[in-house]
Amino acid sequence: PSVMVSRRSKRVPVGFAGQAPSEVVPATEVSAEAHRHHPSGIAELDRVLGGGLVAGSVVLIGGDPGIGKSTLLLQALVRLAESGLTPVVYVTGEESLSQVTARAHRLGLPIEALRLLAETQVEQILTLLAAERPRALVIDSIQTVFTEQLQSAPGSVAQVRESAAQLVRYAKSSGAGVFLVGHVTKEGALAGPRVLEHMVDTVLYFESEEGSRFRVIRAVKNRFGAANELGLFAMTEHGLREVSNPSAIFLSRHESDVAGSTVMVTREGTRPLLVEVQALVDDSLGNPRRVTVGFDPNRLAMLLAVLNRHAGLSTHGQDVFVNIVGGVRVSETAADLAVVLAVLSSLRARPVSSDTVVFGEIGLGGEVRPVPNGEDRLREAAKHGFRRAIIPSANAPRLGPKGLRVHSVSALSEALELV
Ligand code: TYD
Ligand code: MG
Repeated sequence: PSVMVSRRSKRVPVGFAGQAPSEVVPATEVSAEAHRHHPSGIAELDRVLGGGLVAGSVVLIGGDPGIGKSTLLLQALVRLAESGLTPVVYVTGEESLSQVTARAHRLGLPIEALRLLAETQVEQILTLLAAERPRALVIDSIQTVFTEQLQSAPGSVAQVRESAAQLVRYAKSSGAGVFLVGHVTKEGALAGPRVLEHMVDTVLYFESEEGSRFRVIRAVKNRFGAANELGLFAMTEHGLREVSNPSAIFLSRHESDVAGSTVMVTREGTRPLLVEVQALVDDSLGNPRRVTVGFDPNRLAMLLAVLNRHAGLSTHGQDVFVNIVGGVRVSETAADLAVVLAVLSSLRARPVSSDTVVFGEIGLGGEVRPVPNGEDRLREAAKHGFRRAIIPSANAPRLGPKGLRVHSVSALSEALELV
């Protein structure tokens, strides 16, 4: 019944499913007006949202417990209210109302416009929201919410799916922008955010290195912006702060050149970033291991096979470890060349000079393939003072950025010779 109430609400945006009455219409009569983003003013969050929160959209934010989901959303909600998107409601199922206000005080947030609700039954939540009519809403977390229509325990896949489905319908019909918090869980009693990815408009995941204060938020899906966009934050005693020079997070400052380290220019989303790749190749005591942090282990296995077959460099009796510095996951194939050169450097115990950047995809035939936005990557490297670049020949610019010597290679063997 509460769903019916909210469906009759007057503030209905056009163009979403779930509005009555439905009819078949010519496409030419549908307004193609772009969905308006309402910026939160937290630039790194707005970046991953595609410009801000879209009315009637549902944003899922996933991440390990304790990584900062509640902190970020409390900050975002207060900022959204400040910028005029009122009222805003924070629904807490995990913490008490006083815990939420205590956090807001600790963060020094102005809470005059913040409305709170401690409730976990979705029908009850929707009934109360129908009266409240928020324009932005946080549900923290979806795993604590349950529907009376199902017998299963809160947190089960069925409960999480059905509760989320009701909240998605509510968002579409009311025009409220909804954030759903989802804990990434080890296999077990609770259903993780993955089971909701297809239902929501935007999926954001926190990534972080164990023990690091830096937090990376990645848009893995976004119906209103670029996928794979990254937002960068640091956790401080005053909550999550935006990082103004993100490239610096991902480069460790070495006193001198060290073996097994290369710097790549990655371009996840729309921004180039300098990222250090570290490799360690060591004699194996048993079954050789391939261990990666921030990089696909299957991709590493493939690269090692290519290195063996096309460059005669075997790692058969060796453990190979690869680490992407700073806790970001690099999913781009443009990392291939940097990973291979880091492995080679460790294998030979010979450093690649630290003023060198590398990018390029490697094919099974040992060929070095071009990657998108080569010039953009080179400009970023030059801006940070790098003096040498090893890149695919198909990416070679006619005139590279000033101060940067560009070596272009079309086969893995040429790259190996260069270093
Ligand atoms: P939290 O947002 O509660 O994580 P999640 O909702 O993802 O489980 O953040 C929890 C951690 O963040 C906690 O260990 C303490 C730390 N933290 C700070 O370092 N500074 C702060 O200002 C706040 C609010 C939390
Ligand atoms: Mg939390």
